[in-house]
Amino acid sequence: MLQNRKDTLQKIGIDVYHHRKKDSEKNLNVDQPDVWEVLEKNVSSCQQCSLHESRTQTVFGVGDINADWLFIGEAPGKDEDIKGEPFVGRAGRLLNEIIFASGLSRESVFIANILKCRPPNNRDPKQEEVESCFVYLKKQIELINPKIIIAVGKIAAQQLLDTDQTMADLRGSIHSFGENNIPLVVIYHPAYLLRSPTQKSKVWSDILLAQDSIN
Ligand code: URA
Repeated sequence: MLQNRKDTLQKIGIDVYHHRKKDSEKNLNVDQPDVWEVLEKNVSSCQQCSLHESRTQTVFGVGDINADWLFIGEAPGKDEDIKGEPFVGRAGRLLNEIIFASGLSRESVFIANILKCRPPNNRDPKQEEVESCFVYLKKQIELINPKIIIAVGKIAAQQLLDTDQTMADLRGSIHSFGENNIPLVVIYHPAYLLRSPTQKSKVWSDILLAQDSIN
């Protein structure tokens, strides 16, 4: 298992220096599955912004609703819009490898986006779209109550932290989200890593930082 993880890391260009203990404690906190289902249903029929006109379907999120780790990206792209699942394209496969390298699996974490619908031609989300969609994500965060949030990429980080700071300023430290001060760590978006693979080692150090913050 450890060797597998090391091989995966090396395949994606990350040198492994040491391995941190993972927290295997379970966090069974969603005692209202009906609330979750209602939320999912509300999202699937949402018409709060104009993105509903061009979407194939909404992308609610995927994974364990009791997860310790919550990964939040920007918005569905073409593949996600077709499949109804976040991070299923090329960038998604790299995110899976990052998750696996962290000692986790796609099934044991939860993955969501700031927006539940694909912006046409993958343009950046508009502020009014974020504002109408954020209420769903906030409810998901409240119900999952994760031990750590990983903001995947600049747009997710800036929206979650309500800042316009750059990635250079945001990554490499532990932030906190919401009234419950959930630790939040920012990582480079896998789409960026596909273009700039030399930055992968920084993601690994940010993942170690995230592990440290919950251990
Ligand atoms: N990029 C994102 O930020 N989210 C996805 O779901 C896919 C690509």
